[in-house]
Amino acid sequence: MRVGIYPAIFSFWAAILFSPGCDYGRMSDQESIRPYETRLPPMPEGPIPREGGIETLRASRPDALRNPLPSTASSLNQGKQAYGHYCIMCHGPRGDGNGTVGQSFAPLPSNLGASSVQGQSDGELFYKISLGFGRHPPLADTVSEGDRWAVIHYLRSLRKVKP
Ligand code: HEC
Repeated sequence: MRVGIYPAIFSFWAAILFSPGCDYGRMSDQESIRPYETRLPPMPEGPIPREGGIETLRASRPDALRNPLPSTASSLNQGKQAYGHYCIMCHGPRGDGNGTVGQSFAPLPSNLGASSVQGQSDGELFYKISLGFGRHPPLADTVSEGDRWAVIHYLRSLRKVKP
């Protein structure tokens, strides 16, 4: 049986438009979820920091920052460990700037026992190692805040290191 082209087109669209589950005249009338229609799932508290953080540190005065850790045997030990993880390759096992990686830097890593370093406050050193300066890498993302303060206690024990 031959069906004419117009009846064929008509029955094709009729089949689509009147088939069950497709009884919407317009595409905008359908059971979809519209933007902003659902309520957002409740957010856990505290995922977005509103204080502290790197920008607060950047905006602060370095010499006004205080070391929150007391200088005790345990913070010194924590600092020594952190030094061994994060600083030793550049500043060397004795803190004199003779680390193997550091030798490719110009200027060379500082001798941490030098009076130019030891003469600075804890806050100034914390600010510099956190945000970087000159050729120094910024370490805020690599070394936790507690370890950065602890490492400064350890630096104080390097006062006697000679270049
Ligand atoms: C990738 C190598 C590298 C690493 C890792 C590194 N330093 Fe340095 N450090 C340097 C270099 C290079 C300088 C000299 C930078 C300059 O004068 O431009 C320096 C200088 C310093 C100074 C001297 C600051 C001043 O005012 O002169 C301090 C303090 C210091 N580093 C502490 C640290 C501590 C603490 C760590 C580990 C948490 C550390 N550094 C990790 C390379 C490094």
